[in-house]
Amino acid sequence: MQKLAIQGGTPLHGEVRISGAKNAALPIMCASLLTSDDFQLTNLPDMHDVATMAKLLQYIGVRISSDAQSTHFNGANLDKLEAPYDMVKTMRAAILVLGPLVSRFGEARVSLPGGCAIGSRPVDLHIKGLQAMGAEIHIEHGYIHATAKRLKGARICFDLVSVTGTENLMMAATLADGISILENAAREPEVVDLANCLIAMGAKITGAGSDIIHIEGVEKLHGAAHDVMPDRIESGTFLVAAAAAGGNIMLTHSRADTFDNVLDKLREAGADITVSGSNINLVMHKRPTAINVRTAPYPAFPTDMQAQFMALNTIAQGSSIVVETIFENRFMHVQELRRLGAQIDVEGNTAVITGCDHLEGATVMATDLRASASLVIAGLVAQGETIIDRIYHLDRGYEQLEAKLSALGAQVRRIR
Ligand code: EPZ
Repeated sequence: MQKLAIQGGTPLHGEVRISGAKNAALPIMCASLLTSDDFQLTNLPDMHDVATMAKLLQYIGVRISSDAQSTHFNGANLDKLEAPYDMVKTMRAAILVLGPLVSRFGEARVSLPGGCAIGSRPVDLHIKGLQAMGAEIHIEHGYIHATAKRLKGARICFDLVSVTGTENLMMAATLADGISILENAAREPEVVDLANCLIAMGAKITGAGSDIIHIEGVEKLHGAAHDVMPDRIESGTFLVAAAAAGGNIMLTHSRADTFDNVLDKLREAGADITVSGSNINLVMHKRPTAINVRTAPYPAFPTDMQAQFMALNTIAQGSSIVVETIFENRFMHVQELRRLGAQIDVEGNTAVITGCDHLEGATVMATDLRASASLVIAGLVAQGETIIDRIYHLDRGYEQLEAKLSALGAQVRRIR
């Protein structure tokens, strides 16, 4: 089990290049299943979940090769229309092969994703949507078995806003017979990035980014070359780290317009933020002011930034309230932050944080991707050394995190 050792107390200075967005890359890689033509991606982040998705696509039969700049996919000769349990259990986003496979081949067998640390995370909305499009679905031995002669366009209204639910059904609708309307659709920038990629492949999609998406099915999709959008959560994570540790950092290759809500909250906490094109500069030379956050679907405050802001609040001036409305168990970082001296009370999906003037380094354990990021931020500000165990969680969703932090002056090293 690898660990990270962090010596706290050093402000962050310098430049960090933001990688491609994990949560755009994963659905967009699955779009390669929708065409038999060559399909090319640039700015694909080098992280564990992307490698896992590539392995799954290769298992299905997609040929994948990469050079320095781009990764090439070809789904002309697929030999398995399935996603086995041992691949799905480590990455829930594997469910995103379901829509494309049923839509192009009329069949798919995808393991039900188990729950995960942050919640039960069912996929009932994905299944209901495919059934509305005429798919026959049987759940047996832990697998979703879907068949359809040809999916038919349908009007689908989501009870809950679901990011991958929207993405799965949008991909399925691109080759369906007729028009599909997705209502109460997710508006996340990653949904828009996927839609832009599908449109480049010849899909007829309007409304992505709003809560009503229209898709007119076509007979075939052709290949395309797509540049994956910058990761707004990685961007936010570095900005929160600098707001907590103090200093002056510059993000490059980012996109501020995809996380205005996070930038607003950081300004409220006292950070000076300047945006120029794809660069974002943050300066912080004082103790942050505690800020309240309430997570909700885009464009509201993102649940994937909740743990990071909680870490900031543990050393902020004043007390704050953090409400998590998306997942039922996304406070796993609270116990670990308490080990560093944080004062946090939790009642249901609400946490009240009383800012203290310092944290003390300790050994803590990562439990899920964004919780681990919050422990890194806390470790950067704690006095003394913090050891974070089970950092494979971090490696799933951040590209070269400790190298990027070290380049900003942080004292962090990986213990193998
Ligand atoms: C996506 O997960 C992201 N993952 C998550 O990021 C992110 O936290 C989440 O959206 C919310 O923004 C990817 O994009 C790969 P949902 P997803 O479907 O699509 C319930 C990270 O850290 N729901 O939007 O799985 C669900 O339980 C990860 O990068 C159903 O009830 O989330 C949750 O309470 C973590 N039935 C809510 O909806 C369904 O069929 C939102 O889930 C689907 C979802």
